[in-house]
Amino acid sequence: MTEIEAFIRRLPKAELHLHLEGTITPGTLVELSARHDARPLTLEQAEALYHFRDFSEFLEAFKVVTRLLNGPEDYELAAWRMMEQLAAQGVVHAEVYISVGVIYLWRNHDPNCFEPIFAGLERARTRAASELGISLYWIFDAVRHFSVDEAERVFRKAIELRPQYPSIIGIGLGGDERRTGSEPFRHLYAEAQAAGLRLTNHAGETTGPEAIWEALAIGSERIGHALSAIHDPVLLGELKQKQTPLELNPTSNVRTGVCPAFADHPLRRYFDAGLLVTLNSDDPAFFGSDLSNEYLLAHTKQGFSSAELRRLAANSIRASFLPDNERKKWLDRIESVEQTLL
Ligand code: ADE
Ligand code: ZN
Repeated sequence: MTEIEAFIRRLPKAELHLHLEGTITPGTLVELSARHDARPLTLEQAEALYHFRDFSEFLEAFKVVTRLLNGPEDYELAAWRMMEQLAAQGVVHAEVYISVGVIYLWRNHDPNCFEPIFAGLERARTRAASELGISLYWIFDAVRHFSVDEAERVFRKAIELRPQYPSIIGIGLGGDERRTGSEPFRHLYAEAQAAGLRLTNHAGETTGPEAIWEALAIGSERIGHALSAIHDPVLLGELKQKQTPLELNPTSNVRTGVCPAFADHPLRRYFDAGLLVTLNSDDPAFFGSDLSNEYLLAHTKQGFSSAELRRLAANSIRASFLPDNERKKWLDRIESVEQTLL
């Protein structure tokens, strides 16, 4: 491990844009298949599922992998593995999207299918809190291009379960922005906010800055991707003034073909302009990166110094939905991480 890699590992970091299903490796799929299937998947067959050539094919691959998760035990194992991977990178807190809309899709919209799965996820979360010392919140993610009714089901489930499970921190919308924006979900965002849930939204990933304006207009507190904001100086001014947290995912954007290369990603320009940017990995098993590698690429491809990487880590804690005392604790720890001479 190089000096900068060791420094990145030591920095306490939060990952704020991570899809549970996107952390499942082909190896874990093989293991799950061996549990259930008469003719289990080979590693080669599993790896083939992760191939995609563009954003639409990526979304399809994501759905196919999600379909292979059978029941609560599979979700529990997937979540546990995810948290082991996070802890190994020095991630101290994560806010993780669960594609609740896809879970319902593959189970014929059975209204009773979700609670047992969620109980499995919670078992993994509490075990990881005590054994790995990592904290985790869940964000219930709906697929925007399914339908508004579908998103309503997902968000109402979050509202219903939250009193019992305070780990359910918020809601979000993923899926294909080219097919559906944010306006149709305005009333659902208002309802979720009134119930105490925090509001995130994928916007400006495959669409222009107008999609980010629309996401802000329905009350989204954090914007996932925000890649196209770079084309709208007025929007950049607004994001800076409000210090709206941006959940950036550079390698994801390169791999889905919406950004030519890491070096071209607006991360550096947003950072220098004073925006509240955070680095994230989105779907690490699909994109062949992880959070510490995103920090490393920020250093090697965009010249972020160790002092600047420290600021990115601090941003991730600041932009989290952790309570103030927890954020202060981690910000102090970030300050005290030994500075290298890079
Ligand atoms: N679901 C999982 N990853 C996603 C992404 N990057 N964009 C939209 N929906 C997603
Ligand atoms: Zn995402």
